[in-house]
Amino acid sequence: MKVSEMQQEVLRLKQEQDICILAHSYVAREISEIADFVGDSYQLSVKASQVENQTVLMCGVRFMAETVKILSPEKKVLLSNPLAGCPMAEQMDKDMILQVKKSYPDYSIMAYVNTTAELKTIADVCVTSSSAVKIAKAIENDKILFIPDCNLGAYVAKQVPEKTVKLLQGGCPIHASVKPSAVQNMKALHPQALVLVHPECMPSVVEQADFVGSTSAIMDYAKNSNAKEFIIGTEISIAEHLQYDCPDKLFYPLTKDLICPNMKSTTLVDVYRNLTGEFGEEIILDKQTIQDARRCIDKMIALGG
Ligand code: 13P
Ligand code: SF4
Repeated sequence: MKVSEMQQEVLRLKQEQDICILAHSYVAREISEIADFVGDSYQLSVKASQVENQTVLMCGVRFMAETVKILSPEKKVLLSNPLAGCPMAEQMDKDMILQVKKSYPDYSIMAYVNTTAELKTIADVCVTSSSAVKIAKAIENDKILFIPDCNLGAYVAKQVPEKTVKLLQGGCPIHASVKPSAVQNMKALHPQALVLVHPECMPSVVEQADFVGSTSAIMDYAKNSNAKEFIIGTEISIAEHLQYDCPDKLFYPLTKDLICPNMKSTTLVDVYRNLTGEFGEEIILDKQTIQDARRCIDKMIALGG
């Protein structure tokens, strides 16, 4: 079967079965082309709470499918490829954070959405990369224990100097692997290009950027800018999507290593096999976990919109 034929078959099957396909913008192009909605983590969370279909298929990583289930417990939520986890989300567990919290009893736990459902049950508020600064400013407490990404946390701390932000050693191995010298090397090669980076990169990378933002914010910035060349400091697929969307501009990945193997593990064949019932995993969470984890996600949506 050709790629286009499989895409047509996926479209037919999803309509027949009333399935909504959500795809993070880091997944492969042939999947985003057939998805009902493509976006960053925040947009996917909001969309998940709004769709009317009884079944939602998440083409992304596990914590994203869990977030959909928490927001829509009555729905059947499928993770397209059960192996698609997020190493950052799995870095810290509930017991470890409860232990840390003993030393910071008056701090609010601010959890990046890239965390497990279990860890969200003890968070005071959840954030995504696009809402973190706004939510840090908005919450009542001026002391924040930010988990798990110390790079995003450092970015928040810099943008919200009026609050005290305690960081732990966690983060995204893909974004954190970018060295500050990579920015200098790419700028030397493309002196006209603007540098757009994700706040999961190290502060020494972020401080050299012309713009810092979530996946979608980077895409919007590049599309609306009058500049013609951009160095893209986030997962490599964003440079690819932008190149399709803006053929009159040029996009250069900041490094060739910005590839998330977990996001890339979902293939169009997986999606096809999800719809024929041969592959995928239904997300099952117990009622208490859903109830407890939902508080911090609801608070994020209420404060972050
Ligand atoms: P955003 O979708 O918030 O930009 O986050 C990127 C990411 O690493 C998702 O796993
Ligand atoms: Fe996790 Fe980083 Fe991959 Fe996002 S890019 S899913 S944070 S490992």
